[in-house]
Amino acid sequence: MGHVAIDGPGGSGKSTVAAALAKRLGWERLDTGAMYRAVALLALRHHVAVADAPALAELARAMELEVGEQVVLDGEDVTTQIRSEAVDAVVSPISAHPAVRSELVARQRTWAAAHDTGVVEGRDIGSVVLPDALLKVYLDAHPDVRAARRAGQRAAAPDAALRAALAQRDAADSTRAHAPLLIAPGALVIDSSELGVDEVVERLLAALEERGVRP
Ligand code: DC
Repeated sequence: MGHVAIDGPGGSGKSTVAAALAKRLGWERLDTGAMYRAVALLALRHHVAVADAPALAELARAMELEVGEQVVLDGEDVTTQIRSEAVDAVVSPISAHPAVRSELVARQRTWAAAHDTGVVEGRDIGSVVLPDALLKVYLDAHPDVRAARRAGQRAAAPDAALRAALAQRDAADSTRAHAPLLIAPGALVIDSSELGVDEVVERLLAALEERGVRP
């Protein structure tokens, strides 16, 4: 039937919306950010520099990774560890390397080929990974809202440092040379600043219904 591609900056609500939508549809979901985070965690553990593209690409190539409810890296559950501030600090420059991206994009396309239907979220899903997705969505939210959501995930108030780090990461993800975060042609753009998860999901279900999909 097809795939839903959801792209957007950090804290835009992508993961929450993707999970809720997948549940409503009975479809599986792939969080591609978790894949870049897994490479970042390996880089930290193996003391690989963020600029060392060949070594990072080799980590990406060699890792065994399952991304589902839990993220299992080389047999170890790293679901919590990939969300650490240490990973946040290095994942963006690591994800900017084409050699790292091509390895992960290949894995993402393999996943899509193995799943007739699915919800795939990231930064370049509608633009690069699955340009022919059934529905492409660009989810955005005001920077204050995004910082608050990110802080909420860590059960702390959004301080100036978190705000600045998020803004810096978004700027890097949007201006990098390869597969930057952008609104893919034909994407449905939704600002979730003042919308609840259910309202966003209802809009996506309506857009899917127009494309012949019913939950
Ligand atoms: O969605 P997230 O915050 O978990 O993503 C972590 C980083 O991975 C983010 O800084 C950008 C990168 N990323 C990417 O470049 N392409 C994707 N498809 C998904 C994430």
